[in-house]
Amino acid sequence: PLTAKVNDRDHLEVGGCDLTELVKHFGSPLYVLDETGLRTACQQYRDAFRRYYPAETQVLYASKAWNCLAVCSIVSQEGLGIDVATGGELYTALQVGADPSKIYLHGNNKSIAELEYAVKSGCTIVVDNQLELQRLAQMNAERPIRVMLRITPGLDCHTHEYIRTGHLDSKFGFDPNQVEDIFQFISQNSNLELTGLHAHIGSQIFELQAHRDLPSVMLQWVKKAAQYGLNVPEVNIGGGLGICYNESDDPPSIDEWVKIVAESMVKACEAENMPLPKLLCEPGRSLIGSSCITAYTVGGRKTVPGIRTYISVDGGMSDNPRPITYQSICRAVIANRMSAEPKETVTIAGKHCESGDVLIKDISLPQTQPGDILVVMATGAYNYSMASNYNRLTRPAAVLVYEGEASIILERETYADLIRNDRVPDRLK
Ligand code: LLP
Repeated sequence: PLTAKVNDRDHLEVGGCDLTELVKHFGSPLYVLDETGLRTACQQYRDAFRRYYPAETQVLYASKAWNCLAVCSIVSQEGLGIDVATGGELYTALQVGADPSKIYLHGNNKSIAELEYAVKSGCTIVVDNQLELQRLAQMNAERPIRVMLRITPGLDCHTHEYIRTGHLDSKFGFDPNQVEDIFQFISQNSNLELTGLHAHIGSQIFELQAHRDLPSVMLQWVKKAAQYGLNVPEVNIGGGLGICYNESDDPPSIDEWVKIVAESMVKACEAENMPLPKLLCEPGRSLIGSSCITAYTVGGRKTVPGIRTYISVDGGMSDNPRPITYQSICRAVIANRMSAEPKETVTIAGKHCESGDVLIKDISLPQTQPGDILVVMATGAYNYSMASNYNRLTRPAAVLVYEGEASIILERETYADLIRNDRVPDRLK
């Protein structure tokens, strides 16, 4: 959720800060993250699990959505654990003192160095394949290594094909056919402690059927594990709840999503006469996505008579790669003239050197002028985390807003940053 209102200057305010003033002060493009919104979403997950699940639960933040020190610190303060997908995400989480017993390392090709780093730090490894399991089994560890097994659940859902993971033809996790061999392997290895099972169906999902079906699929594996003498205390059902990017999106609420997964786990356990496992989930997008906006400064326009009008902004696919990657449709407003009536249909173009760099196609907006502040909504997830330096654009700054105060959480990159890792071989000099 976003703490937003229109102030008496007809400007959009987020977290009590006037976006027009923020851009004057911090420049643009600018990510503006609403601390209250992020904390509220964390609380909504926690409260809903308390309401619908009568045993232990743990919400993990899927930090791939946006991993940086300030965000890791806020979610940790809210009692969430952290899902990390690489050594780099793990490093960031550990820097803010996140509790390693609530950090889970994911990835379909973790390096040996990443595995060792996570084991040494006391995290749980979400094992994705056999090679990894063998490497862990051979590792020198003071105590058994906590592993969770990621299994492909064979459940499909409607979302963009790049972000579906539950179907069997996925690069992630063990195929269900392999699972018994893996249980056998673990049961014969004192170096490994199986703490749980994991599955993730996909991302930006609106329909709840696959999540309703998942708990009973997972319980079947818990039952199988018992045949190999393995007790499985934790079940992690992944993330995936979608958010609203535009007027036609109508996702379920956090409360509805949790209700479905929690109730269906309770039901599945009753049917199997099994105790309730500790239930984990790892949302990313639905925790942070709608609590951030990106503010751009409007530049020039080009009208192709009878076809279209392009309005250019000072960022684009490098700070928001979602439209070009997943054809996602964003919503935008003119933050310095909020009550102005929509006047024209325009296409918002980024400033990169390719025609595909379009943030929004055919949006109805008030007449814009150079210098206006165009704000794209719901950019908290998979925007900064997927940002690039394409065309040697410096990555934007991000500010955290809270009750009228704005603090930098990510500095704007400088030209010097861009060449920091450049080297010129001596023979070229
Ligand atoms: N758990 C695992 C194992 C995942 O792979 C993901 C997302 C999540 C949790 C969190 O899913 P969420 O709650 O955020 O849907 N860049 C794409 C999304 C990629 C999702 C990757 N995995 C996008 O911008 O749509």
